[in-house]
Amino acid sequence: NEIKIFSPATVANVSCGFDVLGFCLDTIGDEMVVRKTKDKGIRITKIEGYDLPFEAHKNVAGVSALALMEVAQPHCGFEIEIYKKIKPGSGIGSSSASAAGSVWAINQLLGSPFNKTQITNFAMKGEALASGCEHADNIAPAIFGGFTLVKSCTPLQVLAIPSPSKLYATIIHPEIEIKTAEARAILPKQIALKKAITQWANLGSLVHAMHTSDYELISDSLNDIIVEPFRSQLIPYFDVVKTESIKAGALGAGISGSGPSIFALSKGKAAAEAVAHAMKKVYSKTDINFDIHLSKI
Ligand code: HSE
Repeated sequence: NEIKIFSPATVANVSCGFDVLGFCLDTIGDEMVVRKTKDKGIRITKIEGYDLPFEAHKNVAGVSALALMEVAQPHCGFEIEIYKKIKPGSGIGSSSASAAGSVWAINQLLGSPFNKTQITNFAMKGEALASGCEHADNIAPAIFGGFTLVKSCTPLQVLAIPSPSKLYATIIHPEIEIKTAEARAILPKQIALKKAITQWANLGSLVHAMHTSDYELISDSLNDIIVEPFRSQLIPYFDVVKTESIKAGALGAGISGSGPSIFALSKGKAAAEAVAHAMKKVYSKTDINFDIHLSKI
């Protein structure tokens, strides 16, 4: 009647895959305890780590849980405790981890009536509260694990993409806050066909490279000529971090989700550690605090 879960942080977009690609981090995530109650409804009884609303309809974990309850109509309710480890607004899917975690746990306690795609759909309702629109590129990897591609949101279609065995991610989180809604508002509504062609060629080749474990092609495909030029201006020292990461051996680097976190992909743990060192060195010379994570994909 009670379950304790780890709900992972995630990196969305992955350079050329704006709103469609994402992967899951295994070393950072929220913890949640969800308990069945006789009283119907959703109650958030504890939030540790960050100051977030307790009212279910104002909390992303509550909103996604309410969406599931509306369909499942169980004869019970649930209490949710949230031990938030992922800082809101850090660009590694903080709201998605909460939104995905509550529905994943409730589904387990109900005997798994819903599949991963349905759970992702419920979690998207919570995510929409935080970002102002429904997108699943953080939610999908949090629920499915690994690397995912959201082929379509309505109806929801998620594809699991295989990851080469030596692929590692290094993520640095400079402590400035960027709101997803604002980082979306600065993007152009229309793009030139020529740019779109370059972007979808990179996206297609990145997915192909993941399937064929072609690290060189991963490196060659990790480019974002549409979103990064706008959003990188919101992240101090982004260009230096990216250049230094690649110099240190990264296959490529880009903005994690809507930022400010920056991710780099590397072949092998040693390379990912060298990249972490290079990233740290950049922010150590500034007055911006940061934290860093390394994860196998
Ligand atoms: N794809 C989303 C964006 C992820 O970049 O706006 C952030 O939630």
